[in-house]
Amino acid sequence: MSDNSLTDHAYDGIQEFDNPLPGWWKWMFVGSIVFSVLYAMVFSMGAPGRSMVDQYDAALAANTRLQFKEIGDLSADRATILAYMQKDEWLKVGQVVFKTNCISCHGREGEGNVGPNLTDDVYKNVRDVEGIARVIAQGANKGAMPAWANRLHPNEVVLVAAYVATMRGQNLPGRAPEGNPIPPWDDGSPESQNVPTDGAAADDAGTTEETETTEDGETEGGGA
Ligand code: HEC
Repeated sequence: MSDNSLTDHAYDGIQEFDNPLPGWWKWMFVGSIVFSVLYAMVFSMGAPGRSMVDQYDAALAANTRLQFKEIGDLSADRATILAYMQKDEWLKVGQVVFKTNCISCHGREGEGNVGPNLTDDVYKNVRDVEGIARVIAQGANKGAMPAWANRLHPNEVVLVAAYVATMRGQNLPGRAPEGNPIPPWDDGSPESQNVPTDGAAADDAGTTEETETTEDGETEGGGA
């Protein structure tokens, strides 16, 4: 509909043709704005579970649970953690948990920051390998080390504990050592054997179906 009619204003002698944008263009423009508002309401601010972030989290959690079917419910005992220290692909899961939740305080490689250096041979709260899982699940020092039992799957607690256990002894430069020397994780000494290692334990505890007592990773009392 462009014709040669002029608008009725002129600036410095310059005149302007009256060529408005076509109606269909304007309505698409308005329509896209309306659509974007509706879209944002549904996918970004909508009911819980509907946003893309929520859907991604749910898919991720579902995938992790799917993987966990393979190993059942791990109990946070000595034999299980020692066994998973040897399983590289599951250690990687522990590593991901660590990188996601722990490096802000313990450093990228566990060298320490706000939290203690996890690569040396001394510990403040830990006396045996299952103590690592206990500290992770329940926290320490009035929440300076947060409790993760409600935020991580019990299997994630076991796997990240196994990963943390493998960090020991590298003595990476970082936060200065704090705490007391403790026996090696699997030296067979009485201190490192709070859990009876008869039967199902040591050799293949990881793949067990008949799980032992603990379901939620924060059962047994002893120590700390
Ligand atoms: C908000 C900071 C923070 C985060 C996040 C954090 N920690 Fe800690 N962590 C600490 C502090 C502080 C301590 C030392 C507590 C104390 O003084 O007794 C600690 C202690 C520990 C200990 C015991 C060390 C020892 O010497 O006894 C372990 C094991 C540990 N954290 C593992 C983890 C893991 C695994 C994660 C991730 C799931 C994690 N932490 C996340 C701050 C944190």
